[in-house]
Amino acid sequence: MKFRYQCVTCGHEFETDDIVYTCPKCGGTEDAGTFPKGYLRVLLDEEYLRSLSKKPHVSMYDFLPYDIPSPEVYPVGNTPIVRPRRLTEKIGLSGVFCKMDTFLPSGSFKDRASQLIVGQALAHGIKKIALASTGNAGAAMSCAGAAYGLDIILFVPETAPINKLMQSVLYGATVVPVKGTYDDAFLLSIEYTKHFGGINRNTAYNPMTIEGKKSVSIELFEQLGRRVPDVVYVPTGDGCIISGVYKGFFDLWKAELIERVPTIVCCQSEKSNAISTAFRTGVYSNIEASTRADSISVDCPASGRMAVSFMKEFGGYAVEVSEKEILDAQMSLVRAGVFAEPASSAAWAALEKDRDNLVSKFGRDANVCVLLTGTGFKDMAVFDGRVSLPESIENSKEAVIKRFS
Ligand SMILES: Cc1ncc(COP(=O)(O)O)c(C=O)c1O
Repeated sequence: MKFRYQCVTCGHEFETDDIVYTCPKCGGTEDAGTFPKGYLRVLLDEEYLRSLSKKPHVSMYDFLPYDIPSPEVYPVGNTPIVRPRRLTEKIGLSGVFCKMDTFLPSGSFKDRASQLIVGQALAHGIKKIALASTGNAGAAMSCAGAAYGLDIILFVPETAPINKLMQSVLYGATVVPVKGTYDDAFLLSIEYTKHFGGINRNTAYNPMTIEGKKSVSIELFEQLGRRVPDVVYVPTGDGCIISGVYKGFFDLWKAELIERVPTIVCCQSEKSNAISTAFRTGVYSNIEASTRADSISVDCPASGRMAVSFMKEFGGYAVEVSEKEILDAQMSLVRAGVFAEPASSAAWAALEKDRDNLVSKFGRDANVCVLLTGTGFKDMAVFDGRVSLPESIENSKEAVIKRFS
């Protein structure tokens, strides 16, 4: 498929068949301590996009710039919608549903990006992929690597949840824990590809990550009977997922399949709020993030400028939630049968916090999607001190009677 690149910062547009990362004009020219500049958006051919409006159904594959060979090897997409009735009744919003990307092969939304990176790698005949991750992107890429026989080199902060790291080790990736933050791991992985070659899959740095993540919006459009939700709540750290969600709706809009891009809410932790702050103040300064919701703990949001520009263009807004609100939301969700990791739960927490504003803008029947991006199994340690296993009973009838009397 024909596509070109557009720089989000300086607007420079160009076409190339090579693998590119940041804008050749302004990439890396940001002032110290501010969000990176020069991240690229993929623009699909507009005539091609409009031709899609004649199809009775579209799939995410119609919108991806690279083919995905044998998608059944690593099946990404078609995640279910769940309507957690006990919770929606409690908040009085009947049109709220959760998009369960917790069901993807490696248990997180990041499989969407990794699938397209596989397409990119195979199209270019490259077998090695390096990346940095807070855990989920690494597990997703490692899962894809195991499925297709690719070599994955993964740089992660050594403090990442053990389940995420073990997943990547089990899939057979070369895991390199770093004594530093995610942002440190990000820079080291770029050094790795500069020295040893291969594709770099860093979130947002490789523009195909955002492009892969857009598949969720196209899927939602078909799943809801060729309609889009009024509002989508998206847990946000680096800003890559929210940019991908926007990009999918943007492409549907360019294809003349929808009349408007939904309102998208950027859900951040109060302790990792770089994008929310930049949206509010117009100042793109890095922060020191410290939330327990590790997947959205980001100092220097790679896709921050793109996320803010989409939010401004299409009327999005941001909601910040406290640590307690995130952990309470996680517990509310699991007690309603929906098991999500803390970062994902931040989206539900934001919905609860934003409820009255949502009703005033969109009414009680609004069609609202809460994007659940990672399964609760990813981080069981977060329950330490909050939930414990009951003591065992003796193997006897008397013990049962005693236990329940
Ligand atoms: C489960 C989960 N939710 C949300 C996010 C936030 O995505 P982004 O960093 O692209 O904003 C991540 C990123 O790692 C994630 O793994």
